[in-house]
Amino acid sequence: MEAFVCKVCGFTSINGQAPDRCPVCGAPKTSFEEKQDAINAPKDSNNLSDLEKKHVPVVDIKRQCGLVGPGCVDANIKVGAVLHVMEAKHYIMYIDLYLDKDFIARYHMVAEKLNPVLGVHLKAAAGKLSALENCNLHGRWIAETEI
Ligand SMILES: [Fe+2]
Repeated sequence: MEAFVCKVCGFTSINGQAPDRCPVCGAPKTSFEEKQDAINAPKDSNNLSDLEKKHVPVVDIKRQCGLVGPGCVDANIKVGAVLHVMEAKHYIMYIDLYLDKDFIARYHMVAEKLNPVLGVHLKAAAGKLSALENCNLHGRWIAETEI
């Protein structure tokens, strides 16, 4: 999948253009390069390979939030239908989230201290949520879900 990638921090713009400034590290537009193969995509989403099962994020949307109340939509994101490892030499470095292709958050992760899973409380009641994870060995993988 084609995208614009920040050469400084790896942020990946998926809305078809490079931003004026990187929303993660602040690098200028000139730091972005267009990459045809920036994001891995499953060959057949109904029949994932073992590698794909460990890398394509799984997104679960819940509309009953106990933390913020009505209007809050929860999204639970898990890296892999088969949970990806978080070992010192092989781990998920971060998960980036986008709403309608615009960046909304990055979650940095360290190896060995946590599972490659996160829960977020969205302020939006509709739209397309994209979750992009970056494995240190196997690159970027994305999942897109209507909320
Ligand atoms: Fe991996």
